Amino acid sequence: MNNWMANGAVALFVILASTGLFFFVVTRGALVLRGLMPGARDDKSHVYPIYSNMRLIKLVDFQPIISAILLFQYHRLVSKIVSGMQQSDLKNKRVLITSCAFGNVIPRVVDAALNAGAERVMIADIIPNELVHAKSKLGHFSGKVDYVEDNATSMTQPEGNVDCNVIFFLLHELPHHLKGRALSEAGRMLAPGGKLYLAEFHRPELWPLRALSWIYFKVFEPLGLALWDTHDPIDCLESMGGWSCERTTYLFGNFQVVTATKL
Ligand SMILES: C[S@@+](CC[C@H](N)C(=O)[O-])C[C@H]1O[C@@H](n2cnc3c(N)ncnc32)[C@H](O)[C@@H]1O
Repeated sequence: MNNWMANGAVALFVILASTGLFFFVVTRGALVLRGLMPGARDDKSHVYPIYSNMRLIKLVDFQPIISAILLFQYHRLVSKIVSGMQQSDLKNKRVLITSCAFGNVIPRVVDAALNAGAERVMIADIIPNELVHAKSKLGHFSGKVDYVEDNATSMTQPEGNVDCNVIFFLLHELPHHLKGRALSEAGRMLAPGGKLYLAEFHRPELWPLRALSWIYFKVFEPLGLALWDTHDPIDCLESMGGWSCERTTYLFGNFQVVTATKL
């Protein structure tokens, strides 16, 4: 029995350690390596290989894996966005999803937008493979969805072009000086009265969770920690002016959905 338990513990440790190593290599590890290599940086330099290499995208994009990464809060976060959209009048309006994300958030948001009467949904991402992958999940919505290669921090869309914009876990991956630009672009593209839905990490209230979360960010996503203080999304939006914001937090404050209305 003792041997069985010891072997089980070793097996569990090996699985967790190799999963952690895999995610480190295809995310932050690759960016550190990229930073050490000579050569020019471009506007995609901050994007992890896990979002640009089609094999990696397909390998990782399984709902249980993605839900586990967000500590099984994924469904609740998407539901908050979707229910907000269902309560809005999107009749003949345009909805934007700024940057793709794994799991079922894109199909659920597109479905909610079209059911609420939206005329079209546009999905914008800086990486073409992400758009191809998103399209593969949206076969039954074809004809109503546009796929646009665009940069969230300098979008080519005209001012006031959309009535709803969903940004799902993008900010924490952007370099700090680009976080504000992404929010200001989101505001520029929204028509007055339009809503921005922003799902992100948030500073946990419970110190053990905060400590674990801090370690996670330090190891995997150091750009995300600023959302806890210096780059809090509501502070950023309010300092720009012209927004009315509300925040809902999840799992002892570990995650947040910000609903921001353009005044
Ligand atoms: C939204 S974030 C992370 C999502 C989250 N980890 C998940 O999948 O559940 C990842 C996406 O953002 C895109 N992205 C990163 N930087 C971008 C930028 N500046 N403009 C548009 N898309 C961007 C990446 O190509 C990728 O598709």
